[in-house]
Amino acid sequence: MDFLCWMLAALLLFLSPDAVQCVSVHISNEGPVYVIPGAALLLRARMEYGPLEAVKEVTWEREPESGEPEGRLRLAACPGGSSRCTGMRPNVLASVEGQESVLHVSGYSRADGGVYAVTITDHKGATSTARCIVREYEAVHHVTVSINASHSALVCSEAWGTEPHFSWLHERAAVTPGVGAVSEDGSTLVVTKTPLCGHFTCVVSNRLGYSAATYTAAPCETGGISGTTAALICLFLLQIVGGGVAFLMWRKRKGGGRLHERLDERV
Ligand SMILES: *[C@@H]1O[C@H](CO)[C@@H](O)[C@H](O)[C@H]1NC(C)=O
Repeated sequence: MDFLCWMLAALLLFLSPDAVQCVSVHISNEGPVYVIPGAALLLRARMEYGPLEAVKEVTWEREPESGEPEGRLRLAACPGGSSRCTGMRPNVLASVEGQESVLHVSGYSRADGGVYAVTITDHKGATSTARCIVREYEAVHHVTVSINASHSALVCSEAWGTEPHFSWLHERAAVTPGVGAVSEDGSTLVVTKTPLCGHFTCVVSNRLGYSAATYTAAPCETGGISGTTAALICLFLLQIVGGGVAFLMWRKRKGGGRLHERLDERV
């Protein structure tokens, strides 16, 4: 589209320099943009225009994602495409520098969400608009783990947190290939360990923190002696050995005493 436009512009420039009209604007942020409440929203727009064009005005607006026209709000206007911009809200600043315009919204709150639009108007009244969706960055909520028994899979889900990152633990340790395989998006754990047993915990995290849920299967049967049992047996054996040694030392001392007594009698 742009390429065609420029081709046409080149052709028109060749034929008649006055007919050239090619302004375009793009928002550099990849949408949707998620903003943590209280933090600042920074949107950058890149303007493109030919050497014969002059930008008459740059405006920033916002409208609800639902598209209701009455929710439309003018945020800032930069007349003459100069750096002298007027913010129309107390928490909005805008600037134009060279071919870039920046919108800065401080102390972001949920009400600041919506579709942000930047429009540039050239000296002949031609306009170009770019849009970007902005939403609140939300904490992880309501983590649940369910089992898909037919596929030996555990499925972790989370209600509405932004950019959830999933990780899995089995008996509080990271899952190993011997326990199971995690799907690409991390939300599913295909359990390879048979029988499926023990505690499986799904931890969902994002920039605001984490939340976890645990699926409890039947206790794992331990082949042989478990760690706790081994420790108890060790303690028991130590006590027997310790007691034996103490007894022998006590007897030796007593026996030695008697020997002395007997020697005394003979003398
Ligand atoms: C279990 O997983 C399979 C494969 O992903 C899916 O087709 C099936 O519907 C799932 N079953 C349940 C009960 O969710």
